[in-house]
Amino acid sequence: MKLVILGGGGFRVPLVHGALLRDTADRRVTEVVLHDTDLARLDVMRRVLAAQAAQAADGPGLPAAPPTVTATTDLDAALAGADFVFSAMRVGGLEGRTADERIALDLGLLGQETTGPGGVGYGLRTVPVALDVATRIRELAPDAWVINFTNPAGLVTQAMQSVLGDRVVGICDSPLGLAKRAAGALGHDLDDLEIDYAGLNHLGWLTALRRDGRDLLPDLLADETALAAIEEGHLFGPDWLRTLGSLPNEYLYYYYFTRDAIGQITAAPQTRGEYLLDQQAAFYAGVAGAPDEAWQRWDAVRRERNATYMQETRETDDGEAHERAEADVEGGGYEGVALALMAAIARDEPARLILNVRGGGAVAGLPDDAVVEVPCRVDARGPVPVAVSPLPGHALGLVQQVKAVDELVIRAAAEQSRSLAVEAFALHPLVDSVTVARQLVTAYERRLPDFYASLG
Ligand code: G6P
Ligand code: MN
Repeated sequence: MKLVILGGGGFRVPLVHGALLRDTADRRVTEVVLHDTDLARLDVMRRVLAAQAAQAADGPGLPAAPPTVTATTDLDAALAGADFVFSAMRVGGLEGRTADERIALDLGLLGQETTGPGGVGYGLRTVPVALDVATRIRELAPDAWVINFTNPAGLVTQAMQSVLGDRVVGICDSPLGLAKRAAGALGHDLDDLEIDYAGLNHLGWLTALRRDGRDLLPDLLADETALAAIEEGHLFGPDWLRTLGSLPNEYLYYYYFTRDAIGQITAAPQTRGEYLLDQQAAFYAGVAGAPDEAWQRWDAVRRERNATYMQETRETDDGEAHERAEADVEGGGYEGVALALMAAIARDEPARLILNVRGGGAVAGLPDDAVVEVPCRVDARGPVPVAVSPLPGHALGLVQQVKAVDELVIRAAAEQSRSLAVEAFALHPLVDSVTVARQLVTAYERRLPDFYASLG
């Protein structure tokens, strides 16, 4: 099987490659093609992957031959004959992310990669590229499955589905991370539980955790010690979790604690994007200068990146930060969901996964073609949403409003319409004035003219 990774020079590619190396099934990926617009980043990634494969070959019993890895900046050459396409692009790079965060913060709003005005700006510059890619896939690999990691993942998946239909599936590690933490806090293995989860990407709620038909979530919510052991306990506080009666995705922090988040991010010396811009620049330059250390350097930076995720929310008043749980630092969700999805489709091995798919009524109150994040049954025919309990009114209202904004972003980007872009920012629940929405569009046009000056 041929797997194409778009954004193939990206930092998280070795996570996927590592999972491929561990895959010994008959029907597995034998050919990986990395595509990126940046040749230097591709070269560095090839070094890291070669070192990773060599290391795996030295390890204990790996019967399977590693997949071949090639790299190219030619999109059409990469896509031809693909069975699976992983899209993990970052349009505008980390410079773009710093713009999303700073432009919003400078106007007193939340400055975050995917949530709030930052996500709207990121979506506006990503959708045109995603639509072009989808068109090339329709031409060159019409039977391929597209697994979309590209953020903002929900709206980018929905845009790509307008060209490719249900063969585009969006994924995210955060619902799985939440489900694992909740299961672990109850002393259970996730495989023994059935999870109810519903919403949009980075805007969902875990509403039940069933074992043999009995919902264990009320037990978890009642257990102070168990809640204190998981990140959501710190982030939202046990009282608020009990008030909600559910476990919100960590990104809901930015809605329930907007002011606190803006204060924390503003007080930090750098935004997350600024921090990563420095960290990643040093990493890519470092490996280019010391190729023999490619693997060690990558692994150290990976741990550092994971350990500092959402750091500003973990700082205490005395300037210390409580540490992220080791399992969260180790990660595994990102590549785990992608590989599980690919295996279920390629080998017809039924699985239950939380994915971003066309809802078709799975979340009552949304248009049928709206992409939602829900548990799905997956086999060779692809994912099908399973029925979950309806969301309470406050959650559904938020989901509907954000989905309406997503749809405006897709239209604004596809039609290159400035007035639709203003509307998208203005109707976002985290933008508190139409005046500010207009200022956001003007600021984007000034700071990133290559991406926004053509909004007519
Ligand atoms: C999680 C989210 C991703 C997001 C990432 C940001 O994994 O699911 O959608 O891109 O966090 O992590 P970073 O290290 O880039 O801040
Ligand atoms: Mn995500």
